[in-house]
Amino acid sequence: MYEVELGTTEYRSQTRVVGMKKSDRFRHTYMIGKTGVGKTTLYQNMVLQDINAGRGVCFVDPHGEAIDYILQHIPKNRIEDVVLFDPSNLDFPVGLNLLEWKDESDKDFLVSEAIQIFYKIFDPEQTGVIGPQFEHWMRNAALTVMADPEGGTLLEIPKLFVDKNFEMHKRKFLKDPIVQEFWEKQMAKTADFHRSEMLNYFSSKFGRFMTNNMMKNIIGQKKSSFNISEIIDGEKILLVNLSKGKVGEVNAQMLGLILMTKLQLAILQRAHVPNEDRRPFYLYVDEFQNLLTDTFISMLSESRKYGLSVHLTNQYIAQLPENIRNAILGNVGTLITFQIGAVDADFLKKEMQPLNDNDLQNVPLRNYYIKTIIDGTPYEPFMAKGFAPAPRIEKNDYSEIIRTVSELRFGRIA
Ligand SMILES: Nc1ncnc2c1ncn2[C@@H]1O[C@H](COP(=O)(O)OP(=O)(O)OP(=O)(O)O)[C@@H](O)[C@H]1O
Ligand SMILES: [Mg+2]
Repeated sequence: MYEVELGTTEYRSQTRVVGMKKSDRFRHTYMIGKTGVGKTTLYQNMVLQDINAGRGVCFVDPHGEAIDYILQHIPKNRIEDVVLFDPSNLDFPVGLNLLEWKDESDKDFLVSEAIQIFYKIFDPEQTGVIGPQFEHWMRNAALTVMADPEGGTLLEIPKLFVDKNFEMHKRKFLKDPIVQEFWEKQMAKTADFHRSEMLNYFSSKFGRFMTNNMMKNIIGQKKSSFNISEIIDGEKILLVNLSKGKVGEVNAQMLGLILMTKLQLAILQRAHVPNEDRRPFYLYVDEFQNLLTDTFISMLSESRKYGLSVHLTNQYIAQLPENIRNAILGNVGTLITFQIGAVDADFLKKEMQPLNDNDLQNVPLRNYYIKTIIDGTPYEPFMAKGFAPAPRIEKNDYSEIIRTVSELRFGRIA
């Protein structure tokens, strides 16, 4: 009866399975708990159930260990479905272009998201490091590189402001009168010293990606190596390894934000697909707070109707910006709280009534409270315990084959 099992609970001295039905999963799941309590383990367990059942999933892993585990347990019949995005694999860089578009209307969405991504990385508190001037240049420059029928990338943007030939080449393709006017009227009047000021500004943001070979080989490719719409509609398995240790924190965040923006666009494009043809897709984002833009989170309620089930987790909620907290708590059907600290317990007790702060702070290790819905009806929270990770069985471990197959299909040899 359950589509996915989350663990067991003791009820009247009997052990019962805790799970979620399919329709309830599209009301999304949020999980919270201190370090080491078992959050990632619970999600990796659910992901493997989804994979075993043939569903389409994406798992975003900020450390890499969960992906290693998942790969070791993927069944043989799904080997070919796996797309492994591992930026630290320098021999096979996978292309990822944020500015790729299909319909005219995608462009504005992508440009707004690109701006949000820069805010999120370089000015998360919105202190003015990035401001309306940057937005204006960035918007016009991005639309200019995107006008090229061959495609354009984020990394071409700074070049527009220093290389006149390049600027003129890109401008040939422009049809948008507002962007044309930006170049003809505003930029033409901009003195050289002002241009170099702009360039410095862009270089300080983009420079680190342009001088880093790994990033250049990924976000500098005009054509992405895989098509996220095909992954979603074809119910494939996208595993995203953003191991900060190997990739670097800012790079990992940039890649995560780009991927999630592309995924969101692919989901929104399903508005054109008849309801019954929207295959369900299950997204898991571990330590989501740096990897999703505000737009993504505020669209949780809509993603349900496009067949996207979202699972988020992180260690703390009280420090997240208020709009994000509200969007999460207002839009998740299932809330899972492992052991949490005093501030979060105080914050979440309203949601978890009749439990109090004390209950929420004193959950035994690997146990959690779950407040969920069954057939759309909310239930009072109760305690449960997740399943232990399964041991690796050598003869069933296809991880090396999966890595090789994915490299050959999606990685371009550098
Ligand atoms: N139900 C369980 N039974 C046995 N071992 C478990 C269980 N859940 C988790 N573990 C083990 O506990 C350790 C920590 O779990 P996990 O990595 O899932 O924690 P986490 O909440 O994601 O922590 P962090 O916030 O630091 O990422 C792991 O070694 C994991 O294998
Ligand atoms: Mg974890």
